[in-house]
Amino acid sequence: MYGTMDAMGLVASPANASAADIARFGYKLPPRPGKFLEGRGNKSVIVIGAGIAGLTAAYELAQAGYKVTVLEARQRTGGRNWTARQGTTETDLDGVTQRAGFTHGEYMNMGPARLAQHMITVDYCRELGVPLEVFTNQNADGYYFNENVGALSSKPVRHRTAKADYYGYISELLAKALDQGALDQTVTADDKARIIAFLRNFGAIGTQAQGYAYTGGSRRGYDETPGIGPGTVSSPPPSLTDLFQSALGNNFSFEFGWDQAMLMFQPVGGMDQIVKGFERALLRLWPRVSLTLNAPLQEIKNTPDGVEVVVSRSGVPRSYSADYCVCTVPPQILKSIPSNFSPETMAALAYPSIAATGKLGLQYGRRWWEEDENIMGGITNTNMDLGTIWYPSSGFLGRRGVVVGYYNFGAAATAYGDLSPADRLSRAIEQGKKIHGENYGQNIEASFSVAWQKTRYSEGGWVNWPSRTNGQYETLLKGDGQVYFAGDHLSYYTSWQSGAIEAARYAIKSLHTRVLAP
Ligand code: PHE
Repeated sequence: MYGTMDAMGLVASPANASAADIARFGYKLPPRPGKFLEGRGNKSVIVIGAGIAGLTAAYELAQAGYKVTVLEARQRTGGRNWTARQGTTETDLDGVTQRAGFTHGEYMNMGPARLAQHMITVDYCRELGVPLEVFTNQNADGYYFNENVGALSSKPVRHRTAKADYYGYISELLAKALDQGALDQTVTADDKARIIAFLRNFGAIGTQAQGYAYTGGSRRGYDETPGIGPGTVSSPPPSLTDLFQSALGNNFSFEFGWDQAMLMFQPVGGMDQIVKGFERALLRLWPRVSLTLNAPLQEIKNTPDGVEVVVSRSGVPRSYSADYCVCTVPPQILKSIPSNFSPETMAALAYPSIAATGKLGLQYGRRWWEEDENIMGGITNTNMDLGTIWYPSSGFLGRRGVVVGYYNFGAAATAYGDLSPADRLSRAIEQGKKIHGENYGQNIEASFSVAWQKTRYSEGGWVNWPSRTNGQYETLLKGDGQVYFAGDHLSYYTSWQSGAIEAARYAIKSLHTRVLAP
């Protein structure tokens, strides 16, 4: 019904936007392959995988007039775009089954959970009618907590406090060095004065007469907050030695990253709303596109004039053929699937390494991080193997909420992933209590975890390319015969949905260019 209404123009969506609407609301669609395909693609394409790359490819190809068959191994679409909700059930490669006992309406994004505002994912959200809200990737009142690093190990430090102290001491040192002429070979007298003026502002340090000393101040926070009185500024900063020994400042650069700087966004209601948006769009394109779930890939072959793909349907092989294929199966899985790919392709599929990553969702019956610690979203960074703790960026002031109890990579993710779900939970609680005290272990109503390296049909969080310039990456970008490859692994945005979308668009553009060639 939604599809019909939309087709009749009764639903407000970018697809129905008139030129006037576009002018008014400023819709800016990403450059559409469809625009230059002009319905001339009456060829057939099998898309293997209904993750973000596969959904993008299917959506764009079907709009352009191709006949598209999507084959998905799982019983759901989305791939690593996966939101756990009440009743979500998953059995990992070890055969361990978990069921999410989240309250109705609560959820956790097990895979991607944030978008940068410049990513193409945002354009697809606009086009698919997926509303976004701010995802709090940095919060001045989140914590840094590093164990076993001297005097500052005993309790968590707010981001704002650590920044005030690092900026303060660094500014003091540099101002002193400049003032004492240590950099006179490097900077002019004018520059020196300007830099010192900047440092006094940036680091909140004293005057020249005060030796440019950093002595703390309100940027560190208050022991007693201002109200009708001035409040009490938190006691003096730690010594420079203790501060630098803490290594807390090593966290700062994360938020300078092109991909991680605020503002960041998330779909309202869960990351899977992007998948739902694609599904709605594909339904409207039926019968030009069909989608089959529970169809894991068994074999993929180039034939003289097309492709043949065998999937398993309830254990029975079923063969599909088409003119082309867009294959989004992760390389670490595809390399073991029977095929007649070239030796170069096989070597390239085996080349990237797998990144382990894991997350645990903790549903608390009380938003103690808000009520007791004034943390309204954001992230706490640690040097423990739990990695980071994420406070929800929605549902503020509500009765309950889901905290990401750990999110980690590499060896830490492998260690957590090798534990049973119950042991993951108790390890996370044991570590989290070092930051949040008893609250971390109380009022837990449900939990659910993922180890992506142990998740069927993903077998990894993402991949790392030891090099992207030695030919292997290019080999996969080119494709093999009538098969084109796509996925975040074929972008410089590995681990991001935007990478999957960009790679899918590149693959279908290559495919279409070939179809149009005389
Ligand atoms: N894209 C993933 C994330 O946002 C992985 C990643 C982590 C990428 C840190 C870059 C930096 O968590």
